[in-house]
Amino acid sequence: MDEAESRRANGPDWDRYADEYQSTHGEFLGDAGFVWGPEGLTEAEARVLGEVADRDVLEVGSGAGQCSRWVRGRGGRAYGLDLSHRQLQHSRRIDEDSGLRVPSVLGTATDLPFADASFDVVFCSFGALQFVADLADAVAETARVLRPGGRFAFSITHPTRWMFPDDPGEEGLTASQSYWDRTPYVEVDDETGQTRYVEHHRTLGDWVRALAAAGFALVDLLEPEWPPDHDRVWGGWSRTRGLLTPGTALFVADLAH
Ligand SMILES: C[S@@+](CC[C@H](N)C(=O)[O-])C[C@H]1O[C@@H](n2cnc3c(N)ncnc32)[C@H](O)[C@@H]1O
Repeated sequence: MDEAESRRANGPDWDRYADEYQSTHGEFLGDAGFVWGPEGLTEAEARVLGEVADRDVLEVGSGAGQCSRWVRGRGGRAYGLDLSHRQLQHSRRIDEDSGLRVPSVLGTATDLPFADASFDVVFCSFGALQFVADLADAVAETARVLRPGGRFAFSITHPTRWMFPDDPGEEGLTASQSYWDRTPYVEVDDETGQTRYVEHHRTLGDWVRALAAAGFALVDLLEPEWPPDHDRVWGGWSRTRGLLTPGTALFVADLAH
């Protein structure tokens, strides 16, 4: 399942899913809100991007741009990039409704259409990285567009979740496949036989090595706890599972000077 096929599947898949994604999760995300994942950890609480005012910030896998709008609201020059045209149309809709505009571009994480050393901060909130086959290219591209000493922060499904069925209930608490099996999760269209959706798994060590290989030093790894009174179900994320196992990993890394 190479990069070209992953992209061919995931772009149209996100186009199809975008309306439902925004109507289901838009309120939780907030038009100009910044949450790092289904646990509801906000950037205002985590503060992993550092000061964003007057800084050039790129969000990769920006969807409807909610996080970038939060950055803009704090004086940062945030830009979005996403593979899905429909997600970007939602971004445009919220730009117009909110009056907080996030300039955004259609593109892919593995081939960023920006000059070298253009940004102080690059981030992804569950965007792009687990959907790319060529992770080394995506991390190298991030390093290329960051200025020396720049920060890269991204949240992904916690790699340990790979062992469990993607079920928010009790079924999702019993490990049933190997953590070390990197065979991607693939959905195929029954009628056409074409790949419809691909998600790639890496272990925690794989992520650390990918960062180090591109010149990043890991600064922190946050594993947000599920708030005891938080009862939201988001796909395979739920209170039932969240109180026992981590659902989100938030990596924070700095590019060498
Ligand atoms: C789970 S959504 C997250 C969107 C947004 N960050 C949020 O919190 O709502 C993942 C996003 O990644 C985008 N995406 C998937 N593959 C990508 C790629 N190769 N390059 C850029 N974006 C990609 C999808 O189109 C989708 O908008």
